[in-house]
Amino acid sequence: MLDRTSNAPELPPEIARRRTFAIISHPDAGKTTLTEKFLLYGGAIQMAGQVRAKGEARRTRSDYMQMEKDRGISVSASAMSFDFEDYRFNLVDTPGHSDFSEDTYRTLTAVDAAIMVIDGAKGVESQTRKLFEVCRLRDLPILTFCNKMDRESRDTFEIIDEIQENLAIDVTPASWPIGMGRDFLGCYDMLNRRLELMDRADRNRVAESIKLDGLDDPRLADHVPPRQLEQLREEVEMASELMPQFDHQAFLDGTLTPIWFGSAINSFGVKELMDGIGHFGPQPQPTSAEPRQISPDETKVSGFVFKVQANMDPKHRDRVAFVRMSSGHFRRGMKLTHVRSKKPMAISNPVLFLASDRELAEEAWAGDIIGIPNHGQLRIGDTLTEGEAIRVTGIPSFAPELLQNCRAGDPMKAKHLDKALTQFAEEGAAKVFKPMLGAGFIVGVVGQLQFDVLGSRIEGEYGLPVRFEPSQFTSARWVSGERQAVDAFVNANKGHIAHDSDGDIVYLTRLQWDIDRIERDHPDVRLTATKEMM
Ligand code: G4P
Repeated sequence: MLDRTSNAPELPPEIARRRTFAIISHPDAGKTTLTEKFLLYGGAIQMAGQVRAKGEARRTRSDYMQMEKDRGISVSASAMSFDFEDYRFNLVDTPGHSDFSEDTYRTLTAVDAAIMVIDGAKGVESQTRKLFEVCRLRDLPILTFCNKMDRESRDTFEIIDEIQENLAIDVTPASWPIGMGRDFLGCYDMLNRRLELMDRADRNRVAESIKLDGLDDPRLADHVPPRQLEQLREEVEMASELMPQFDHQAFLDGTLTPIWFGSAINSFGVKELMDGIGHFGPQPQPTSAEPRQISPDETKVSGFVFKVQANMDPKHRDRVAFVRMSSGHFRRGMKLTHVRSKKPMAISNPVLFLASDRELAEEAWAGDIIGIPNHGQLRIGDTLTEGEAIRVTGIPSFAPELLQNCRAGDPMKAKHLDKALTQFAEEGAAKVFKPMLGAGFIVGVVGQLQFDVLGSRIEGEYGLPVRFEPSQFTSARWVSGERQAVDAFVNANKGHIAHDSDGDIVYLTRLQWDIDRIERDHPDVRLTATKEMM
């Protein structure tokens, strides 16, 4: 487990000011709108409305295909950097569709914190819960934003209770809403003892902020009608008694989440949330690796690939590897060692993603996300260092939940299919297995939609029509153990054996019963549902 420390001022200032995070939410809760306001207040865009086309969360299948054709857009939305006050924010986009959970998981390995957006009327929804669970696996600190308070929403206590009960995390109110729906006036900022008033007339204007001397301050009565004021005082008093106080360490440990109430579309509560990320952090955290963890303040540069996006320009077959910098101060042109191949790589055209533009990254610090264009050398899970043989860990590959046979529409083009599938496997878009017996490939994914996307991309990018057909197998397990035991096992089960795109052996299963049988008959062989990418 990583050692998360509070924001002690021990990192170099350039690193300490970085905040690298993702937004998790159920589709429609307001992730795109919030992202847009972040960029607006970070000065990265001039006008609200520019991110709308890029939000991935609400895409339908056909939108997704279209987006796949227009790769540039989705790439620039994958990571965005902007400054806010003294901080440099790196916002990493998580794919919205539940079918891409593996990709999401890996994306979350590249961030230090997550913002969980919930819709005040709907509370914790299915996708929120799934994504939250992924954050929990890594003990990521979570800031919660309860959105759409300008609409009829649930009772504040009820919302907080639901998060606590449903997600088993302590919740502390950072702000408290005053009224709701049409009567929503704004919030009492519980951390800074301020009154924040929402401006309904101008959606992009930041709320008026009034410094108060606690809830007994007579100035409150100038802004809040008596009935609402009484309710506010009662509720805040009750909340202070019933709910935990903000505890920075508990937040950093991922056991306590502060919640802000607001309305992203009205720009309300957004700045307070941004202040929260800036102020509470966390700053860039250590990266788990073998044989030792990497600390962000190490002077030597290191980073790891958590995402690969290929064929952004189909004519050039280029790929961009998204690298999270783990340590040091990277400068353009540096030679880094690609640890897997032990080869040096000159990083001459790294890119930074500034809202809608890509820019050459002249430099990057621990915590930053850069894109490295390459021709396929860089794969998910790869580590780059200044020479040390160190390997970042904790970037898993999951056993697919759906398998289908994949064949080229034109049998003469089977070779090309091999190439296309290998490339998608390296991009992490699917698992590709070559069975020991027989021809063709078996493709494994987590959700049905991935087959459709894959089929359309192979056709679009390689001019190869493909057919997916049902397979007798339903899942796959990686095989490990002593060489002799594995060989004996493979020989006895040839009809079930395949190799993945790294050449590792997998056992294709039909039923859970198959796995139980192997465990009984071959105790020396281990079957696993995850594999570390390396
Ligand atoms: P997502 O990325 O999480 O899927 O959500 P997105 O930001 O696209 O927001 C989903 C819908 O909720 C949008 O409405 C958006 O305008 C609306 N919305 C976001 N924040 C707020 C808020 O604070 N208050 C209210 N009342 N609505 C909010 P839409 O009608 O689906 O799209 P659009 O026509 O407005 O673009």
